[in-house]
Amino acid sequence: MVSMTAIKVCVFMALLCVAGGFRAGDTATDGDVLRRLSSPDYRKALAKAILFFEGQRSGRLLANQRVKWRGDSALTDGQDENVNLTGGYYDAGDNVKFGFPMAFTVTLLSWSAIEYRGEVAAAGQLRHLRSAIQWGADFLLRAHTSPTTLYTQVGDGNADHQCWERPEDMDTPRTLYKITKNSPGSEAAGEASAALAAAYMVFKNDKDKALATQLLAASRSLFDFANNYRGSFQSSCPFYCSYSGFQDELLWASAWLFRATQDGKYLDFLQDNQGSSGPANEFSWDNKFAGAQMLATQEYLDGRTELVNYKTSLDSFVCALMPNSGNVQIRTTPGGLLFTRDSVNLQYTATATLLLSIYSKTLSSSGSSGVQCSAATFSPDQISSFATSQVDYILGKNPKSMSYMVGFSSKFPRRIHHRGSSIPSIKVLTRKVSCNEGFSSWFPTSDPNPNIHVGAIVGGPDGNDQFSDNRGDSSHSEPATYINAAFVGACAAAMGQQLEPVVSSY
Ligand SMILES: *[C@@H]1O[C@H](CO)[C@@H](O)[C@H](O)[C@H]1NC(C)=O
Repeated sequence: MVSMTAIKVCVFMALLCVAGGFRAGDTATDGDVLRRLSSPDYRKALAKAILFFEGQRSGRLLANQRVKWRGDSALTDGQDENVNLTGGYYDAGDNVKFGFPMAFTVTLLSWSAIEYRGEVAAAGQLRHLRSAIQWGADFLLRAHTSPTTLYTQVGDGNADHQCWERPEDMDTPRTLYKITKNSPGSEAAGEASAALAAAYMVFKNDKDKALATQLLAASRSLFDFANNYRGSFQSSCPFYCSYSGFQDELLWASAWLFRATQDGKYLDFLQDNQGSSGPANEFSWDNKFAGAQMLATQEYLDGRTELVNYKTSLDSFVCALMPNSGNVQIRTTPGGLLFTRDSVNLQYTATATLLLSIYSKTLSSSGSSGVQCSAATFSPDQISSFATSQVDYILGKNPKSMSYMVGFSSKFPRRIHHRGSSIPSIKVLTRKVSCNEGFSSWFPTSDPNPNIHVGAIVGGPDGNDQFSDNRGDSSHSEPATYINAAFVGACAAAMGQQLEPVVSSY
């Protein structure tokens, strides 16, 4: 999409513009300006990426809920153990609340709000982003019921996946899962700690300090739980198994806590455990080494030279991703998309793009010339241009001219693998739709979904830029909260890049 202003400027400059589309070829001398004019409307994309979270909300919806096809759901979650576990987010196209990726989602949304506060505010979205963060953080706070207890999942994943129901109709078991000192899970506790420290930074300057105080206390407590009762979290397996172990979450949480508190105990932890952090080539709900390295590198560039190993590893991450670095480990598709693996690939693209954006910005502001790989040195501008190219691809600048964000531009996925989106709204079809009816009447059709889940970013194309828009194909057509969460920051960064050079060149 091209903004109205851009179209006017375009017409004024007597350039060939395709309204709502993208121009091909930037060969003119004004290539840079042309590229920006042909860019998607990042403000709109950012607003939609955030709106998506309202469609994923569980619990009693607020009066100002904007996604109208959704209703209240799962109002008795937690009741079996007398805990209030209503609220939070449904993970993806299913109706399970998985605390581990939900916490990662809250961390990424908070990070986006911290790093790109100005851009998000300029797009008029700060209020909505804060509310999206709070909705998840509030659930995590209530799930941490004692210093050594964290509820990590609500809903039986197997039963849920054998059922195709709207959340408002749900009648599958809302089984509760938790970690305790006898059955610990340092990944889940560590990520929840990171999420609440990051969220604390978003809310700490509010006039009312109550929320921030609660967030920070819970974050500290969860870090101690994760660190003092070490064990690997496998209770959400086979849906979310930890492959990378818990050391990454411990580093990630301590880095966030150090940033939030400046308490030396967390810096010591980062320093003492440098050895456990090596180069990574993905950043995901499972593997957070690169994220921890990013935070530690910001400290390093701020003068904490003892943290140098983190920067070395982060540079390797950049070299593993940047085309023609001489050290590429993650290839790009013929159309230019970072392609980590053929299963919900856009999650990796979005998180990598967020990290590259933040690193580029950090390098620029510290006056660094860039990252040196074996065959090339990448300036901060080159890194951010590559990051922007990934955002643009996701929004439609790709061989299929398909926006992988639902409701953005005119060509986007119509049959996403999402229960609530694919069955008519409870407000339209008011009777109950059972698991089996969902599976026989709504899941297998080739009709478009009745509810357009605006802003949802799906798993995306295959390694040859192809996409079949098939509801049954969950690894390509299912959205997930952590894809959107990473995209929020990546999109805000692209928006900032677009504004900055234009403004400074006039
Ligand atoms: C559970 O928590 C939610 C969110 O804070 C709140 O709105 C609701 O009233 C609580 N329910 C009960 C039964 O306390």
